[in-house]
Amino acid sequence: MGAFVRFCTALAVTKHLCVMSEWFKNGDDGSSVYIMDNDGKKFFDIAREKPEIGNLFNEAMASHSKQKIGDLVTSYPHIFDGLNSLVDVGGGTGTAAKIIADAFPSLRCTVLDLPHVVEKASESNSINVVAGDMFEKIPSADAILLNNVLHDWHGEDCVRILKRCKDAIEPRKDGSKVIVVDIIQDFENNNPKATETGFLFDILMMTSHGTKERTKQEWHDLIIGAGYSGYTIYPTRLGIDCVMELYP
Ligand SMILES: C[S@@+](CC[C@H](N)C(=O)[O-])C[C@H]1O[C@@H](n2cnc3c(N)ncnc32)[C@H](O)[C@@H]1O
Repeated sequence: MGAFVRFCTALAVTKHLCVMSEWFKNGDDGSSVYIMDNDGKKFFDIAREKPEIGNLFNEAMASHSKQKIGDLVTSYPHIFDGLNSLVDVGGGTGTAAKIIADAFPSLRCTVLDLPHVVEKASESNSINVVAGDMFEKIPSADAILLNNVLHDWHGEDCVRILKRCKDAIEPRKDGSKVIVVDIIQDFENNNPKATETGFLFDILMMTSHGTKERTKQEWHDLIIGAGYSGYTIYPTRLGIDCVMELYP
């Protein structure tokens, strides 16, 4: 978790917390402390403009994904049964795709992310890399992975992303799905550490992107609101992170 801790504690990505009280008084709805403290720019714009911040972030995401996706492929291999192709949307520098491709060699994986991010991802026999914008176009595949992506976005943006994902899997055979790996806030889990971690991530999302971690009911509303027929939730060994399998 070294890279993740280095990112979370770097001055460049924490200094906006010092102006939180100003934001509480004057901040715009739907904006964030980070955006206010960075002259209206969003975190992903700064990550593109300042490679030192972008690289720190990409390494942090990769280290987090190594644990999460490593756990997913060993705990729930059946999720990948029968799939021939998968697109990891917002897949960063390709860590999750590599873990999945190594675990399921017949599965062709594609990493879709912004151009300055995927320039650090490497192609291989089993991994394609595509520079693009998930709001514009998502390549078609049997499955789409949204790992640690939706909590960065407001509800209406999540619905747009989920609809794009649905369009990308719909022409495929039965068994096509969207796999969402994200936090589910559960205030009744009798696990004070998990609740505390959920609140900390909630504050992180609020201050960085002006968004939030979602409860089970909020996920239900998003998924059904985006036109999916149903979903299954799987808990993970890593506590508050969950895996959600969405059916078109
Ligand atoms: C929180 S990171 C998660 C990265 C990766 N899925 C992981 O967990 O390791 C969110 C990712 O979404 C990407 N992203 C942001 N806006 C995007 C867009 N419009 N289209 C595609 N990717 C985008 C970011 O560059 C970043 O890599």
